[in-house]
Amino acid sequence: MKKKQTSNQDPLELLDQDEENVLSRSPLPGEDELLPPSLRPRKFDEFIGQKNIVEKLRVFISATLQRGEPLDHTLLLGPPGLGKTTLANVIASELGVQIKITSGPVLNRAGDVAALLTGLRRGDVLFIDEIHRLSKNVEEVLYPAMEDYHFDVLIGKGPTARSIRMKVQPFTLIGATTREGDVSAPLRTRFGVVSRIDYYSIDELTSLIQSVSARLQYPIDQNAAEEVARRARGTPRVAIRLFKRMRDVAQVNNQPSVNLETVETGMAMLQVDRNGLDYIDRKILEVLLKRFDGGPVSLDTLAVSVGEEADTIYDVYESFLIQVGFLARTSRGRVATRSAYEYLGLKPPETLANVEEQLSLFD
Ligand SMILES: Nc1ncnc2c1ncn2[C@@H]1O[C@H](COP(=O)(O)OP(=O)(O)OP(=O)(O)O)[C@@H](O)[C@H]1O
Ligand SMILES: [Mg+2]
Repeated sequence: MKKKQTSNQDPLELLDQDEENVLSRSPLPGEDELLPPSLRPRKFDEFIGQKNIVEKLRVFISATLQRGEPLDHTLLLGPPGLGKTTLANVIASELGVQIKITSGPVLNRAGDVAALLTGLRRGDVLFIDEIHRLSKNVEEVLYPAMEDYHFDVLIGKGPTARSIRMKVQPFTLIGATTREGDVSAPLRTRFGVVSRIDYYSIDELTSLIQSVSARLQYPIDQNAAEEVARRARGTPRVAIRLFKRMRDVAQVNNQPSVNLETVETGMAMLQVDRNGLDYIDRKILEVLLKRFDGGPVSLDTLAVSVGEEADTIYDVYESFLIQVGFLARTSRGRVATRSAYEYLGLKPPETLANVEEQLSLFD
């Protein structure tokens, strides 16, 4: 708890004050958070793709609604921009409850999480983004809260210190993370539902682009939408961003709609190639192939050489390059694949066969 406790102060009142601070310290919104609310799916019917996850969640949600219980705590895993935050909001709206949104890095004191927990109403959703970044003491408040809907707070200091047990209304914790491996084991085991969100297919992204285009009232030809989808790295956030840039190009050229030609021009301007690789992706591959002979090289060395944050390389670039088969993570570091050499028009070295052999062992 961050404020000094005097004997006649109500701990709950203090918690309420803390809660406001936690909520006001939320991270700055990204471009997609600035989209008009009508662009963000509110219900499962508007949520494109991820059929397995949606089907499963529909069943769990209707079962819990029938029983009048909160949904089991749910962990959403997957690379950035695939819809974890969106899905958490959809779940809350399908449950017909409120959602309180916070994130691991801003929730750094036990008092912060205590404030949020006591403010929840029965069945509400508490959404914690980047849950792998919670501090140990915050996690420890969460464990009993998740399991038995209570937690203990220590009031005062020294010999007069006492612990008060606080009750929490039954609630659902939804955690989201891009780093599955960094979620602590005790936390992870307290989630009843774990869903891994995958990259989207080109068809799914094409429908997403068509639906965004309809809602923004700027038409796009079917073949142009497919071309944008192909270059969107399997990621809705990228698809929406690329569509908006293509709309800019069409608009300044006085075209009433986005066509294939606009897409070709626009993508060339953004330096996004046919596979969706951008300038940084190509730089990563070039550094890996030309400076480090295809690897293995550590993530940190790669990050320094490219001039990007290691976290960004890991979450955004590397996971995509792995997905398209240009790069692999091995226990000794990052290595380039044969496709990466072919992509850059370079001849793979003789030693690549050894690397590929190691990779197959690694799988
Ligand atoms: N399945 C989907 N259907 C329609 N729109 C989607 C879908 N998934 C994501 N979007 C849209 O894509 C954008 C990015 O999604 P979101 O912010 O939920 O991703 P995220 O996984 O939470 O990313 P991060 O890891 O960076 O927090 C949002 O504008 C969202 O509305
Ligand atoms: Mg998010």
